[in-house]
Amino acid sequence: MSDPQVWTDVDDYFTTHLAPGDAALTAALRDSAAAGLPPIAVTAPQGKLLHLLATVQGARTVLEIGTLGGYSTIWLARALPADGRLTSLEFSPHHAEVATRNLARAGLDKLVEVRVGPALESLPALAEENPPPFDLVFIDADKANNPHYLDWALKLTRPGSLIVLDNVVRGGRVADPGSAEPDVVGTRAAVELVGAHPRLDGTAVQTVGGKGYDGFLLARVLD
Ligand SMILES: C[S@@+](CC[C@H](N)C(=O)[O-])C[C@H]1O[C@@H](n2cnc3c(N)ncnc32)[C@H](O)[C@@H]1O
Repeated sequence: MSDPQVWTDVDDYFTTHLAPGDAALTAALRDSAAAGLPPIAVTAPQGKLLHLLATVQGARTVLEIGTLGGYSTIWLARALPADGRLTSLEFSPHHAEVATRNLARAGLDKLVEVRVGPALESLPALAEENPPPFDLVFIDADKANNPHYLDWALKLTRPGSLIVLDNVVRGGRVADPGSAEPDVVGTRAAVELVGAHPRLDGTAVQTVGGKGYDGFLLARVLD
């Protein structure tokens, strides 16, 4: 079955029964759309997956690269203990402003810090502060920089940490070695980096759903 309407219907069904969300999540999407943010947040079942991964991981600290309106941030932050910490990096001041309001309404402003600027500037600044290793890193920003984000994720984690890299399928174009599209080139470099790196063990899964055909890569940091 390759009918996108069916993918959406099935996603809606799963959302109703498994990831219904609540007023804060619904309002985050509504206000993000009203503020003109693009509709590129994870779906509710994907948000729930991030929440479950952080929970299974026993995560106390999460790093997110690519905040948008804070929708995935809310799912992830809700898996943290009261003294947990989520740092989310966002290029756009407007996106960060919308996210900050959404996170405050969700009651997560004490747990979450949104840092504004290009992530490749925010990451070295963050590393300078010598934070405790992050237990989970969610990479969901400009795909061309995915290999750089993976390098930084390795510097900022510990053995046993999880790294989730979103949107690795690129409509199937990830399998095209001749592609010159920066997003595809960056994603292929990231996939190959995970495959070859002695301190990473990973896999990738293709998905269909309300946001079409895509997929995610999951990697565990090794000793
Ligand atoms: C796919 S959206 C993130 C969606 C969000 N994780 C969610 O699921 O709710 C990607 C975000 O990354 C941000 N971004 C793009 N390039 C960036 C960069 N160089 N540094 C930091 N953020 C960047 C975009 O402004 C956008 O808000």
